[in-house]
Amino acid sequence: MQKKRIAVIFGGRSSEHEVSRVSAAYVIDNIPQDKYEVVTIGITKTGRWLLYSGSTKAIADGSWEKAEDNKSAFISPDPSVAGLTVITDEDCNIIKIDVIFPVLHGKNGEDGTIQGLFEMSGIPYVGCNVLSSAACMDKITTNILLEYFGIDQAAFTWFYSYDYKKSPDKYIEQVETALKSYPVFVKPSNAGSSVGVSKAHNREELIKAIDIAAKEDDRILVEENINGYEVECAVLGNNEPTASIPGQIAPAAEFYDYDAKYNNAASELYIPARISEELMQTVRKNALKAYRAIGCTGLSRVDFFVTDDGRVLLNEINTLPGFTSISMYPKLMAACDMPGEKLTEALIDLALERVEKNV
Ligand SMILES: Nc1ncnc2c1ncn2[C@@H]1O[C@H](COP(=O)(O)OP(=O)(O)O)[C@@H](O)[C@H]1O
Ligand SMILES: [Mg+2]
Repeated sequence: MQKKRIAVIFGGRSSEHEVSRVSAAYVIDNIPQDKYEVVTIGITKTGRWLLYSGSTKAIADGSWEKAEDNKSAFISPDPSVAGLTVITDEDCNIIKIDVIFPVLHGKNGEDGTIQGLFEMSGIPYVGCNVLSSAACMDKITTNILLEYFGIDQAAFTWFYSYDYKKSPDKYIEQVETALKSYPVFVKPSNAGSSVGVSKAHNREELIKAIDIAAKEDDRILVEENINGYEVECAVLGNNEPTASIPGQIAPAAEFYDYDAKYNNAASELYIPARISEELMQTVRKNALKAYRAIGCTGLSRVDFFVTDDGRVLLNEINTLPGFTSISMYPKLMAACDMPGEKLTEALIDLALERVEKNV
């Protein structure tokens, strides 16, 4: 049987470009070469698409961009091409693709934009579709949907930074009325990797935090501060998804900011999470409920806060979670008898299943 050709896409115009490269190296190293042929497309930070054919080590460390045989290439939106268009000074070639495996985090990769191109191309792809990617990337939209579906979360309020700048007092009052007490968490609706997220302990800090968040997005979310454990659940599947054993992160910093996520080895993971069996079941149940309600497919990591008094609050859904060797998603799946290669194969199969069964 001919090997299926998988196009792994990494990098991208996103604040999570570097993490994506490390995730992609892990994913590529875990695609069984005897069954699949892998082609890799790197997207630079400025958004250039390059077909790259070197080592995964160079993807992880960033030196892939300098490879001399990189060629301009892009997924054609024309479904009759069903593949990559590769352009050199001399000619233009087509490489047929069976499945696209995006390993992109954050803007332009996890937010439905590139998924729109995949849809147009007609090529099966791993992960969530346009709507669920966009809904999960946008924190305000996620919270509104969770509220609609009755899934517990932190109290929140939101506004446009444009309106805030015109009458700041009105929106400060809105926050203080809705959330009642400090500290609060201020977030750009659409960012990722804790970029632009801050904890404000008083009104003065709130004003600063809004200014920081407003640099990332024109819609600002403010949430009640939750004192609890950060518990994460890996979900895999299409119409009948399964939820992993939940895991727990003990951040090294006051909260799980960018540094604690990627630079600080002191953040610890516990698998299973150190919570009661009953709370574990609530986490899994709510993870699956949110996944189905929002229309996720393929995979997502659903993140929660679990408080001492037993509240289980959904924080966010990551439709293309970190996939490095130290990341929670692959670790949780491995704990459920889905180690690296088995997981990448399952994801590829789920992408094909969506097209075959019109999921
Ligand atoms: N309402 C909240 N209460 C307490 N901590 C929070 C709250 N919201 C976010 N955090 C902390 O900030 C981190 C980043 O926020 P999150 O909403 O997960 O954004 P990102 O998409 O950047 O991961 C979380 O992992 C958590 O440590
Ligand atoms: Mg998060």
